[in-house]
Amino acid sequence: MADMPLIHIIVAARPNFIKVAPLMHALKRETFCRVELVHTGQHYDANMSDALFGDFSIPEPDYNLSIGSGTHAEQTGQVMIAYEKICLACRPDRIIVVGDVNSTLACALVGAKLHIPVAHLEAGLRSFDRSMPEEINRIVTDTLADVLWTPSPDADENLRQEGISPKRIVRVGNIMIDALELLRDRIEARQAHLDFGLSPNGYGVVTLHRPSNVDNEGALQGLLASLLKLSKTLPLVFPVHPRTNKMLDAFNLTRMLGDAAIYLCEPLSYIDFMSLICRARLTITDSGGIQEETTYLGIPCLTLRPNTERPITVTQGTNILVAPDDLVEKAQQVLQKQRGSVRVLDLWDGKTADRVVESLRRLLAG
Ligand code: UD1
Repeated sequence: MADMPLIHIIVAARPNFIKVAPLMHALKRETFCRVELVHTGQHYDANMSDALFGDFSIPEPDYNLSIGSGTHAEQTGQVMIAYEKICLACRPDRIIVVGDVNSTLACALVGAKLHIPVAHLEAGLRSFDRSMPEEINRIVTDTLADVLWTPSPDADENLRQEGISPKRIVRVGNIMIDALELLRDRIEARQAHLDFGLSPNGYGVVTLHRPSNVDNEGALQGLLASLLKLSKTLPLVFPVHPRTNKMLDAFNLTRMLGDAAIYLCEPLSYIDFMSLICRARLTITDSGGIQEETTYLGIPCLTLRPNTERPITVTQGTNILVAPDDLVEKAQQVLQKQRGSVRVLDLWDGKTADRVVESLRRLLAG
């Protein structure tokens, strides 16, 4: 076993745990490589990290860098310093990074500088909005990685436009759907709406955490005012991300919600959250993953962003980009419409982890 190639899989933040879970399970069945899980500790709260490890039965990380919060430079730099020490000590044969968080970029940089090949899962997504930290992380990570595992044809095209050789691009599909399928039975059995006294199809789910929506007092206040209005027609469940919670406190805005039909709660486990989503009348979000999950489940999704790195969810799915000022009107329109039939997207089939494993097997065989 010890002479088999060593693979490092990097996780850092909540969406990473979801993407890595199906891959960890698929690799557990294989004997062509050894896998070590490295948690940078970017997300550290029990309900942002441990709860996801529990839901997906992800094994304890082999390394925890315990980086925690900080500015972008602090977070990126500290991950690099800590992870470089590990790489120098154990020299993995390949590093797998996922998504677009600061730790993704940091570990890709460490690998590239030490000449350890890096593979990027969920490569090629572009919002073409460089004011988003994630866009910078995606562009740099894709430049550094020697293998780009993409979810959809638009991602392949973005990479080709940046001059990346087609030889480095392998379309594997959407790993988020594998995660959902992995736990689908337990999600459907769980009836998390009952915890809030709500009925199926009789509520909306809200998540907000993008700096552009929550770090500015006026923007956050405006969004809360819209949610307040909408809650008079449709009760809303709002699991509050730590960043948003911090800003609600800093701006003293929670009091705005008074006794409105807006159920604030801590961030939920994956099973509880997806159980709410799959029976929701609509979703209001600025998350990336939720745009995909709602498209797959056929739940209407209003995304509070001017752009998306996942355009396929708009052109082929249930996603609608909305400006904050239009939120109430667009939500009312959705409520009046019949729900359309669910469209099945190519390679959103729960088999992405298997395709990643096959690609990895070929890479390691040289
Ligand atoms: C990060 C990712 C974002 C991803 C999101 C998912 C980057 C640049 N951003 O954003 O792409 O969509 O995760 O959640 O990598 N905090 C806690 N406990 C935690 C984690 C964070 O209290 O477990 C607080 C900290 O005070 C921190 C703030 O939330 O300052 C923001 O956390 P951070 O990891 O910097 O960015 P996110 O907004 O979570």
